[in-house]
Order: sequence, then structure tokens, then C-alpha cells
Amino acid sequence: MTTVTLIPGDGIGPEITEAVKAIFAAAQVPITWEEENAGQTTFDSIGELIPQSLITSLERNRIALKGPITTPVGKGFKSINVQLRQKFDLYSNVRPAKTTAGVKTRFDNVDLVLFRENTEGLYSGLETYDERLGISDSIARVTVEGCHKIVRAAFQYAAKHNRPRVTVAHKANILKSAGRLILEAAANVSKEFPQVQWDEKIIDNMCMQLVSKPEQFEVIVTTNLFGDILSDLCAGLVGGLGVVSGANIGDDMAIFEAVHGSAPDIAGQGLANPTALLRSALMMLEHMGLHENARQIESALEKTLLNKEQCTRDLGGTASTSEFAQHIISNL
Ligand code: NAI
Ligand code: MG
Repeated sequence: MTTVTLIPGDGIGPEITEAVKAIFAAAQVPITWEEENAGQTTFDSIGELIPQSLITSLERNRIALKGPITTPVGKGFKSINVQLRQKFDLYSNVRPAKTTAGVKTRFDNVDLVLFRENTEGLYSGLETYDERLGISDSIARVTVEGCHKIVRAAFQYAAKHNRPRVTVAHKANILKSAGRLILEAAANVSKEFPQVQWDEKIIDNMCMQLVSKPEQFEVIVTTNLFGDILSDLCAGLVGGLGVVSGANIGDDMAIFEAVHGSAPDIAGQGLANPTALLRSALMMLEHMGLHENARQIESALEKTLLNKEQCTRDLGGTASTSEFAQHIISNL
């Protein structure tokens, strides 16, 4: 039994983590959950946004499954998600986007994986505001080391999964140095992976290509802000935020989480689709080497997705979050 830290999160977080726990228990996945929360809920109860007990749990287990956490817009605390990624140097944000039978989309053969740099760029937190002049400066700090690390993660993935090509998305025509760093990193790192080809696209063209011919892409790597936007765009290509998974991976720790937020508009009503968190949990099982468990649950999920009636409202069904989970369990 491996212990995994479980962060239920806010909004729909507790509902979808319950669903995942029930499915994992039914499938007899050999892990034990250690539950620790963060965010507004823990702040209200114990006065800490990221409790020390959560940090200790993460440092001990080195692996976690996380529900969405609400971030106040504008004034208020800095995103817990961003803080955890930076504190533990979880520099790769990995977002697969693959078409699933039964989930209605415009395309039927998308199968790509996006690698977003997760700690630098416009999310470095280097932001100032001069009230008197009315000027805000945001520094998008990008480092040679950071670019090499994320690019290497993308090439390693491509090599391991027999994906022929990595595409670098950038804006080197305007961002002369930041854009150049990621392109130079790709040129350098590609020498270690002669079996993987690579090419590059300017980010605006990349968006156009993705929404018109997404099947041409295999693995995409990019800096933080571009990756944040592209990853949601890619989610839209394959059925939306309710069905795509995500992971934050560093050299010695990984936090798996759904791509979507806490969905306050539907929280507590049993309307949330647990697929995204479940798929993130399956990525976690793959990461832990529990391939057989992951495959078994994935096929039960795929079977359930084919029967619209058994799915949640966002997928065109009428099932509640827990009913959907029960259907997956029946299909195990
Ligand atoms: P959101 O992803 O929470 O919701 C966007 C829309 O998608 C809403 O209509 C929502 O009902 C729907 N939706 C999202 N997840 C769903 C699911 N599993 N099943 C069915 N429908 C689903 O994005 P929004 O509204 O921009 O953000 C809400 C809060 O979440 C904010 O405080 C934001 O900062 C936070 N957030 C947290 C993230 C994280 O913890 N990783 C990621 C994104 C946002
Ligand atoms: Mg995002």
C-alpha cells in the first residue's frame, strides 16, 4: 500500500474526490489516502491557507491527488495552486487531450499531450503596481534552466511513448529573449533524442492550427501563460474541462489534479462530472506503475461514457455525480 495525499479542495472538489475514492475502493487500488485540505476552508477553520500538516504530508508521500481550489480574483491571497507548484518545483504541467468515444466534439481523432512550464514566465509573481502613475509591471521571468527542464520532459515523454514529434509554441518574433530561450533549449535537448523530430510554431498561428487541424499535433511544449491558455483550448477540442486530466510533475514529487476549477455555480448539487479528476487519478496510477489498475478503471469509464444516460448533465446525461460513479463501478 502506498500512501497518497488527498486534497479535496473547494466547491465541487469534495463531491468529485468522493467519487474517485469510491471507484478506487471498488477497484481495490493498493493505495491509502491521507486527507489534507488547503485554501479558504482551512483558512476559515485554522487560519492557514496551506497548513503545515499538508506540507508535511506532501514532503512525506511525494505524491498527491488534488481537487480544485478557489482563488480570489484581484485582491486576496495568491493562488494556492501556483504556490504549491513553485514551492515544490513541479515544473511540468502535463495535459493530455484525447478524443473519447461517446463524448461529443467537433473532431474525432485528437490525441496530443501538452507540456506547460509551470513555475516561471508571467506567473513568477514579480508584479508591481504604481498607484500614483496607474502603471502595472509584470515580469515574465524565464530561465535557461527552466526552459531546458520543461523541454526535456516533453522529449522524454515523446521518446517513451513513441510519439514522433515535439512542437514548440512560442512568440520569439516579439519576445526576443524569452522566446529564443525555449527554442534554443529545444535545439539543445533534441540532440539527446535523435528518434524524436521537432518543429516550432508562433503561438497565434498555433491557436489557429489547433482549432482547425488538431490531429497534426503529438506533443506540444510551451512557456507558462501560453500553456495555460493552450491547455484549456485543447480541453475544448476533446469535450471540455469536465473530461480532461492534468498533472504537475517535478523531479521528486507529483501532484495530479483536474484542469477545471471549483465550479461554484454547480457546487453541492451533485451535478459535477468527476471524469477529469478520475482521469488525473489514473495518470497518477500510471506514474506509480499501477498500470493494470489504471487500465481496468479507464475501460470501465469509457464504457460508461458510451451510455449517455449514465453520465452527468454536462455530458448530456441525467446522472448525479455519485450515480455516475456507481455506473463506473458496475462496469469495472
Ligand atoms: P471552473 O472550471 O470552476 O468553471 C467553468 C465552468 O465549467 C462552470 O460553468 C462550471 O460549472 C463548469 N465545470 C467545471 N468543472 C466541471 C465539472 N467537473 N463538471 C461539470 N461542470 C464543470 O472555472 P472558473 O469558474 O473560472 O473558476 C472558479 C474557481 O476555480 C476560481 O476561484 C478559480 O480561481 C478556481 N480554479 C482553480 C483551479 C485549480 O484548483 N486547479 C483551476 C481553475 C480555476
Ligand atoms: Mg488554467
